[in-house]
This record gives sequence, C-alpha cells and structure tokens, in this order.
Amino acid sequence: MKVGILGLGKMGEAILQGLKLNPKNGNGDTRWELLASVRSEASAQRAHQEFGITCLSDNLELARRSEVILLCVKPYQAEAILKAITPTLTDDKLLISICASITLKQLREWSGGKIAVIRAMPNTPCLVRAGMTVFCAENSLSPEKNQIAEAVFSTLGKTAALMDEALMDGATGLSGCGPAYAYLIIEALSDAGVKVGLPRALATELAAQTLAGSAKMVMERRQHPAALKDEVTTPSGCTIDGLMALEEGGLRVTLIKAVVAAAERSRELRRTSE
Ligand SMILES: NC(=O)c1ccc[n+]([C@@H]2O[C@H](COP(=O)([O-])OP(=O)(O)OC[C@H]3O[C@@H](n4cnc5c(N)ncnc54)[C@H](OP(=O)(O)O)[C@@H]3O)[C@@H](O)[C@H]2O)c1
Repeated sequence: MKVGILGLGKMGEAILQGLKLNPKNGNGDTRWELLASVRSEASAQRAHQEFGITCLSDNLELARRSEVILLCVKPYQAEAILKAITPTLTDDKLLISICASITLKQLREWSGGKIAVIRAMPNTPCLVRAGMTVFCAENSLSPEKNQIAEAVFSTLGKTAALMDEALMDGATGLSGCGPAYAYLIIEALSDAGVKVGLPRALATELAAQTLAGSAKMVMERRQHPAALKDEVTTPSGCTIDGLMALEEGGLRVTLIKAVVAAAERSRELRRTSE
C-alpha cells in the first residue's frame, strides 16, 4: 500500500521512522511503500538521502501517487494544503490527518468531500514503535478504510478508535502532549537521583526504566495502578515516606491540571480555526 507522508517535521518523521522500522502492515504480509513530500526541492533531496525514500517537493504529486495520505503539517497550514491538492483526492483514497484540533467536518470540507477522512492523534514515541494513537472517523467510513488506519498506527504502537470525536481534545491533552509530561518527570527523578548521590547517567537510566517498567506492569497485569502501588508500599517502609512527599507537593492535582489545560487549549485552537 502506498502511504504518502505530507510534511516531514517532528511528527511526520516519527511516523516515517516508525513505519520504516517495521515495513509490514498489521497482517505482516504487505510492505508499506513510503513516500513523502516537503516544501522545497533542497529539503526533498536531504530527506531522500537521510531516509532512503522517495521524497517530493510537490504535494499534488504526492497525493496523486498515494493511496493513503498522512497529513502531518501544522494545523494552520492544513486548509490551504488540502485545498491545493483537492483535485487528486478521489473516493478510493484515504486521508489521515494528525493535525491537532482540526475536525472531521473541516477536513471533509477542505478536501473536496470525496476522499474518506480520518482524524488521528498520535504521539512522538511512534518513532520507536511505542506510540499511542487515538483516531476517529465519520460513521459512514467503510470498515476497510478504518482497518487501514488501524494497520498504519498499530505498526507504530498502541491504538484506540474513538466513537465520539468530542473526546479528541481530552486525548490530545493526555496522550498527544503526554510524552512532554513524562520527560519532565523523568528529568526531575534524574535530578533527585543526583541529589542523593547517583551519577547523572545512572540516575536518568533508573528513572526512565522505572517509569517504562511500571507502565508495562499496568498494561500487562491489567491491575488498577492503586493496587500495584499498594503492593510496593510496606508498612513503615521507605516508599510510604516518598508517597507522602508527593501528596504534599500536590503531584496528582498538578498532573490533572496539566491535562485539563492542554485539552482546553486544544478546544480553544479549534474555536479559532472554525
Ligand atoms: N509534535 C507532537 O508531539 C505532535 C503530536 C500529535 C500530533 N501532532 C500534530 O502533528 C502536526 C505536525 O506537528 P509537528 O510537531 O511535526 O510540526 P513541525 O515539526 O513544525 O512539522 C510541520 C512540517 O510541515 C512542513 N510543511 C509546512 N508546509 C508545508 C507544505 N506546504 N508542504 C510540505 N510540507 C510542509 C514543515 O516544513 P517547513 O519546516 O519547511 O515549514 C514542517 O516540516 C501538527 O498538526 C500537530 O498538531 C504533533
């Protein structure tokens, strides 16, 4: 299947690299044929050399040659780009937009109304195939087209299909922006390690692997995080003292506020683009 990535910024590149790591689709039998487009010929040549794929400086040509078009530009750039490539957007193709806050209705209007559209919110760990992508489609979308989106994003990590588009702002605030929160937490834990005498590199490794391992426990054991926390918290032990300091510092409410603020910003961005 020919997948065209329109825009090779941070997220477009993460998707490209993730798909290149495992060039097979969800069934493991068909190779993605990857191509991309960027703004200038010089960047196209650079991307071709760096990633070893066909990279064009012509979005119209990319759309013509792709069966699936992944729109990976900034939200404010989406309308003009979609309108410019509309003549090539036929009903046999699929357009997947990862632009934050841009709705299915806007995508449909700007893309001429023929092509099937999906709105997705991935995150940057797609680069190492540990991404989290939520996506939603109009009710009329065929199961085949939904399966294509599922196959692309499940190659890049976990996926969740949403039935209600209104949930996309919350997902943006949580998993779309979430890697930044996690990096901040890892950095802070690493600083803490240094404070208690550990070398920096070791402290960062301990912090990152502890978060990765704990996340794996939550996903694989399918237990409530509170139950897992209770398991490691012995009476009068060290952990309860650490937890008490976190509660005193308001960690929970701070994280909740972070997600609420980011989700609200996503809503606000949509209101300004409508
Ligand atoms: N970053 C994240 O963690 C994240 C997560 C989920 C979703 N998203 C969404 O992903 C989208 C891209 O975000 P990003 O962080 O990857 O932004 P970015 O790094 O700024 O990438 C945007 C890319 O689009 C390119 N572009 C602009 N106009 C173009 C055109 N006419 N033709 C071809 N390429 C063009 C830009 O090229 P130039 O550099 O030449 O302008 C740039 O490389 C956004 O809509 C964002 O909401 C991002």
